[in-house]
Amino acid sequence: MIGKIIGLGSYLPEKVVSNDDLSRIVDTSDEWITERTGIKKRHISDHKKETTSYMAGIAAQRAIEDAGISGSEIDLIVAASTTPDVVLPSVACTVQHAVGATEECGCFDVNSACPGWISAFLTAQSFIEAGRAKKVLVVGAETLSNYVDWTDRGTCILFGDGAGCAVLEACEGTPVTSIMRSSYERGDCLYCSNMKQPDRLDDEDFIKNTHFQMAGRDVFRFAVTEVPKIIKDVLKKAGVSADDIDYFVLHQANARIIEATAKKLKIDLGKFPMTLQETGNTSSASIPSLMNEMKKNGQLQKGQKLVIASFGGGLTWDAAYMEY
Ligand code: COA
Repeated sequence: MIGKIIGLGSYLPEKVVSNDDLSRIVDTSDEWITERTGIKKRHISDHKKETTSYMAGIAAQRAIEDAGISGSEIDLIVAASTTPDVVLPSVACTVQHAVGATEECGCFDVNSACPGWISAFLTAQSFIEAGRAKKVLVVGAETLSNYVDWTDRGTCILFGDGAGCAVLEACEGTPVTSIMRSSYERGDCLYCSNMKQPDRLDDEDFIKNTHFQMAGRDVFRFAVTEVPKIIKDVLKKAGVSADDIDYFVLHQANARIIEATAKKLKIDLGKFPMTLQETGNTSSASIPSLMNEMKKNGQLQKGQKLVIASFGGGLTWDAAYMEY
């Protein structure tokens, strides 16, 4: 048995922040951001209402509705998030409540930064392949705006908030082929060392490290080197060629990274759908949200062959080949 995606859903916060809006907060411009990243706007949550769990719950409800099933049929929820609202309960447990799943449903979170949704998806596949679950929610949800330094023009322009979810159902099919890689050694170009602590608000050094710290060029170099490589490796492992693939569904971080990947692999850029113009980088929410958009606009069709790939802090980078 393998897990087929039978439903997709996503949620983006109501508030939209354009590049021009950002140029009123930091020394930047629409022209610079567009040229370097392709991003035009991002959605930023109302932190009192649109928490990570709130957005995850709505994305999951929408995915369940899209699948045409009831929340009570779900027997496992795996949620990916780097930015949960609380230490306990897990995001997955809050989704259980939001969708009306029963106490027979197992719930847990994974954190592998931006590739988190792929890690959660592969975990869900393993449960299904082992016969331990039949209908699974795989969620990615982030409130990155809580961890962005809004005075740092090098990072604040990149990120947005949101959530995405897929419903997997056990059925016969071609197993997913995957590769997961990580490097603590190379991780110092993207990190966030401190959790928020209300009683340390006046400790400047501490507060600085509650924000994402990034060496943009190093992350860029890492991405344009490793992403094409891992895609090549996963295609080889699956025994398929790039020509066989309908879409390469990549983490939505930066249009230049996606363009460089397409170029290195000598694949038509038209096979690399993008939503980052509208959303910015939503970390683990980016791939399920993109797939949901592709389904809504008719790009995604049953039986298509897809490669999904992502990269992020840790460092971590994953890729998988699947038949949709
Ligand atoms: N607006 C205007 N100027 C900016 C700017 C902004 N938002 N951010 C940085 N700059 C300036 C820098 O200060 C620097 O100025 P200097 O030459 O006077 O020192 C100049 O632009 C070039 O900075 P640099 O960081 O080298 O730019 P870059 O071409 O590498 O682009 C990123 C910066 C962040 C867009 C790019 O490195 C990137 O996308 N990296 C990957 C990041 C990523 O995807 N992270 C998430 C991974 S999941």
